[in-house]
Amino acid sequence: CGIVGYIGKREAYPIILNGLKRLEYRGYDSAGIALFDGTDIQLCKTKGKVASLEEKAEKEISLKGSLGIGHTRWATHGVPNDVNSHPHYSNSGDLVIIHNGIIENYDSLKKELIKRGYTFKSDTDTEVLVNLIEDIQINEKVKLGKAVQIALNQVVGAYAIALFDKKKPDEIVVAKLGSPLAIGIGEDEFFVASDASPFIEFTNNAIYLEDEEMAVIRRGRDIKVRKIKDDKLVAPYIQELQMNLEQIEKGGYEHFMLKEIFEQPSVIKDTYRGRLLADRGIVRLGGLEDYIEKFINADRIIIVACGTSWHAGLVAEYIFEDLVRIPVEVEYASEFRYRNPIISEKDVVIAISQSGETADTLAAIKLAKSKGAFVYGVCNVVGSTISRETHSGTYTHAGPEIGVASTKAFTTQITVLAMMALRLAKAKGTISQSDFMLYLRELELIPNHVEEALKTDDKIAEISAVFKDARNFLYLGRGYNFPVALEGALKLKEISYIHAEGYPAAEMKHGPIALIDEHMPVVVIAIKSDHYDKVVSNIQEIKARKGKIIAVVSKGDTAVRELADYVMEVPHTPEALSPLVTTIPLQLLSYHIAVMLGRNVDQPRNLAKSVTVE
Ligand code: G6P
Repeated sequence: CGIVGYIGKREAYPIILNGLKRLEYRGYDSAGIALFDGTDIQLCKTKGKVASLEEKAEKEISLKGSLGIGHTRWATHGVPNDVNSHPHYSNSGDLVIIHNGIIENYDSLKKELIKRGYTFKSDTDTEVLVNLIEDIQINEKVKLGKAVQIALNQVVGAYAIALFDKKKPDEIVVAKLGSPLAIGIGEDEFFVASDASPFIEFTNNAIYLEDEEMAVIRRGRDIKVRKIKDDKLVAPYIQELQMNLEQIEKGGYEHFMLKEIFEQPSVIKDTYRGRLLADRGIVRLGGLEDYIEKFINADRIIIVACGTSWHAGLVAEYIFEDLVRIPVEVEYASEFRYRNPIISEKDVVIAISQSGETADTLAAIKLAKSKGAFVYGVCNVVGSTISRETHSGTYTHAGPEIGVASTKAFTTQITVLAMMALRLAKAKGTISQSDFMLYLRELELIPNHVEEALKTDDKIAEISAVFKDARNFLYLGRGYNFPVALEGALKLKEISYIHAEGYPAAEMKHGPIALIDEHMPVVVIAIKSDHYDKVVSNIQEIKARKGKIIAVVSKGDTAVRELADYVMEVPHTPEALSPLVTTIPLQLLSYHIAVMLGRNVDQPRNLAKSVTVE
């Protein structure tokens, strides 16, 4: 989500609206604004993009006022609709809040507030927070800032919030934990936003709040920053911004793709947060719980998808067959829909799509439904067509993916599919308790492993410089890492325009081996696994034909290191989860090669982010 606020001497509306447009990359399921017009709060919110908000606001509310807050939302709690959109009022209608993040213990807080007579209009955790603040303000007779502080000490979760009280329309209170929050300092005016892009043309001076800090911002006066926990005043560090608008939206990274690659540790965590509780041996997906019997009694699972999502489907085939012992077929949605597939009520279909709008995948879903199959969606974009067309499903929480070449969507899809497999294996009894616990714990460690793998970025850039002028690349992997080889090759093709092919390592001798000579770089995924020795033999075959070997190896590996020309190290994890880690160096390799070749990394020629034509 993105948040914006303004307090000062200008009209707040144009500043907030424009700021929201700049933050739309952070989410665009719904948007809203609240202004103080001198006597009352003018609030307008709607499902959809900021443009819809603009249309609605101009018709429905007075756009006057020099204090206001605005929000563009990526739904977590509650479906995207007008009621669930931000800002949210407190029960009295005096307080109004915007919030980015998740309040994990909102349910217990809500029950407590209901007992105290509070009522709720939306399903959001945010409405719980604003009423909690109001309750404290009234009962403990404290100022708004203090009430916010007391409330936040009761909250578990992540947030960036901004709120004001119409009885005291000269201040905005903000706070941060987990989600970003910047305060822009102008002359007699202050700006609040998720990043500096909404205010960059007004001021170069900004304070970035640290986690567990809050600030009371007073019109024409000052900003008081404190620690939420112990109430200590903090001397705020005012930073001079050097970045331009585009650089800010990319979070300081040179491209969206690079930003998205580096976001993977946090979005994988976002994807399993609240769903996977390894210590307690729990994995639970809201959309799946009611359909567990359906899955485990299915004759087979058919996965339909396109592009990178199809590769995630292939990884899932290995995990599901391995752990849940149900036959799985993975189909290109476009092939499936046109070949009169055999499908019945005894089949379960999983449709995987980042955008949730891919035309072929959507058509495959409709076809499967028409034959009576149960269809489950794994989508990233909340409220997308596919998420609505499927019977049930699970969202990945990758956040908006802007780079056309998919990166974080892929790893979060695998995260969801792995959780599904574990939940189903447990229900079906096809996994031992010790293996189950082991996988849960290992899945929880994946963000750390990905972080580790990302540290080899410089090394990968060096390798990229060596091979950037190659005309062809071959990618090889076995088992769980065969789909990773396909995905590695696809990434390189998409953004560097170098021809690349992914192959199962053992199939090499049935064709691609004929291509190998001293000009052919071969990327081999050779991590420690059951197939390790076999892969080492494949590497020897390549070496004997003078191919150049770039190997993805497990930390501490020695045998492959001796044979390969270059190695990219990744931490060890069970093979079933290894695609989440081995994918990382391949993403970076293709990224650096494309940059070195001067390609348009975020918008490669001829491709589209979401293909809504067949
Ligand atoms: C396009 C994109 C790919 C994506 C594929 C499937 O080709 O460029 O990155 O993997 O569509 O998209 P979906 O949104 O259904 O995952």
